[in-house]
Amino acid sequence: MNTVIYYFSATGNSLVAAKDLAAWLGNAKLVPMVKALRSGEYEMADAIGIAFPVYMFGIPLIVANFLKNVKVKQSAYVFSLATLGGLPGLAHSQVQEILKKRGIELAAGFSVLMPGNYTPLYEAISKDKQQEMFEKEKIKIKEIAASVRERKKTIMEQKPFLPNFLLNKLLYKPGSKQIPLSGKDFWYTDACTKCGLCARVCPVANIEMRDQRPAWLDHCQHCMACLQWCPVEAIQYKKSTVGRKRYHHPDVSKEEIIVQ
Ligand SMILES: Cc1cc2nc3c(=O)[nH]c(=O)nc-3n(C[C@H](O)[C@H](O)[C@H](O)COP(=O)(O)O)c2cc1C
Repeated sequence: MNTVIYYFSATGNSLVAAKDLAAWLGNAKLVPMVKALRSGEYEMADAIGIAFPVYMFGIPLIVANFLKNVKVKQSAYVFSLATLGGLPGLAHSQVQEILKKRGIELAAGFSVLMPGNYTPLYEAISKDKQQEMFEKEKIKIKEIAASVRERKKTIMEQKPFLPNFLLNKLLYKPGSKQIPLSGKDFWYTDACTKCGLCARVCPVANIEMRDQRPAWLDHCQHCMACLQWCPVEAIQYKKSTVGRKRYHHPDVSKEEIIVQ
């Protein structure tokens, strides 16, 4: 069985989960969703993984767009792999719904806990706690690999149902509407060194360098890549991120996040 895992990842958690799974499965290839969307080229593999972070108890907008475009082999085993800081909401159900409309069955949805990266609400957890999570992630991915190898069906890891359901229904739709224009609330402090890394890590080219300083456009994904990867922590979102510890997965380099 050959596998392709399409991934979207701003701070590396989903990329690490996808890489670890690919290593367990063998004969597996990783493809950035952004790249597949740009080229319109999709792989006809026996198993297709869709790896992404949970946003507002649902799926990132770019993942929804990807799901509306992805092409898969009729017999393919399709699974989603969500990374999340606390609760997945109805992320897998959303994947399932979009694919179902296109006649594609989502066989399973797996959830993996990782450090949260939403700095507007909280700062990065301690390195020790991160390490504990990474160890658990490795164990969980090994279990997921076993399920994928057996082509297990009807696993939807989004329990407990009620809070996940309510949070998704209350927050996802209104929140998602605001996301593309949320770039207007990012700003930079005097610490900005004009290095331009923020523009390069942005997965959707939503940052334009004007006079060597970032200017945010109107199709933001709210992924926090610009804020988290800024080497001098100059980038802020509204007021709450000032002074908060940043996060990106320690095993992922900025070069791996930049999609060529
Ligand atoms: C805009 C945004 C919204 C988020 N919403 C949720 C959420 O609803 N539930 C949750 O558990 N984690 C949430 N998170 C945390 C991420 O899902 C989590 O840290 C994820 O592993 C990041 O993956 P990445 O490093 O591949 O980008 C959110 C993060 C961002 C940036």
